[in-house]
Amino acid sequence: MTTLTVLGLETSCDETAAAVVRRGADGRVEVLSSIIASQIAEHAPYGGVVPEIAARAHVESIDGIVARALSESGVGWDGLSGIAATAGPGLVGGVMVGLSFGKAAALARGLPLIAVNHLEGHALSARLADDIPYPFLLLLVSGGHCQLLEVAGVGACRRLGSTIDDAAGEAFDKIAKSMGLGYPGGPALERLAEGGDPERFPLPRALLGREGFDFSFSGLKTAAARAAEGLTAEADRRDLAASVQFAIARQLAERTQRAMADYAERHDGRDLRFVVAGGVAANTVVRARLEQACAAHGFSFHAPPLKYCTDNAAMIALAGAERLALGLVDGLDAPARPRWPLDAAAASANPTHVPGRKGAKA
Ligand code: KG4
Ligand code: ZN
Repeated sequence: MTTLTVLGLETSCDETAAAVVRRGADGRVEVLSSIIASQIAEHAPYGGVVPEIAARAHVESIDGIVARALSESGVGWDGLSGIAATAGPGLVGGVMVGLSFGKAAALARGLPLIAVNHLEGHALSARLADDIPYPFLLLLVSGGHCQLLEVAGVGACRRLGSTIDDAAGEAFDKIAKSMGLGYPGGPALERLAEGGDPERFPLPRALLGREGFDFSFSGLKTAAARAAEGLTAEADRRDLAASVQFAIARQLAERTQRAMADYAERHDGRDLRFVVAGGVAANTVVRARLEQACAAHGFSFHAPPLKYCTDNAAMIALAGAERLALGLVDGLDAPARPRWPLDAAAASANPTHVPGRKGAKA
């Protein structure tokens, strides 16, 4: 196997990102550059991501972001082995910007294109900073995704469970919005919760004890919005924020612990590694609860550094490099896919999205 240097492009939500990652013949990973342009300021007035604004902002900035990623990496177009672009799931207008850019560059430079599933990028993100061997149990918790996956390698992810309504980050964002906090809501809610009483407001424990490894946050969202009505005293708002954060962390830990018990049994108590990735992994209460779950079930705990937890292109470049090493490349007709489950078999056997109803993104 040779050393591979891959340019990654990420435009599936509200970050325009480009990165250059080198994967040595021995599998060692080096992030040569990782540039992220956030569009938070553009979307903040609307309290959430506006797809049309996101797509336009990607078009405006992608040239400059790629140029910076290449120049900071010290690698020119000639030094690249391939170009990896997120091809979904996500906001399709944005996905098309990065994927079209990747296709054009691959064609112009005679390089292979790798169409990467954004979820596979998150699944591999912990390997950017740490040599975590396969397999491992992954909790992917972000604004768009909330899934438990068994990651056995590139193209070998098995979905154990998923949200049946909102993602955990989406719940943080929507509840924060109903409390009049800014966007993104997760960090704002965490700040408000500091020093609050997490047991002051009893909130519903969805799916408690229920078979399987799915999540649900819509009941919690409704209950929190109702509790927030007419709540003006800062101390009360602090207690509600703490209670919400506690309830989300509790559900994530409870469902994960069920998956840990199942995983440990299937692996005869070996390879007990747990990774949490995605923006919600930044939350200290969530992390602490998951670390406790790991300790209770004998799993080692891993979380990528924050810059690789939230959306970035280094994880896309790494997924591209790992695919390229296996000869998995795509044609220039690779489609942009708004929905693209990582584990197609599990998704069709147990769909979490029913047409006509708002459902999980993937
Ligand atoms: O991974 P990410 O950047 O983008 C998606 O793929 O969605 O995750 C963003 C999500 C947002 O919903 C944000 O509110 C949440 O992660 N988030 C947090 C925290 N930091 C980010 N949620 C709770 N506590 C935090 N400290
Ligand atoms: Zn993401």
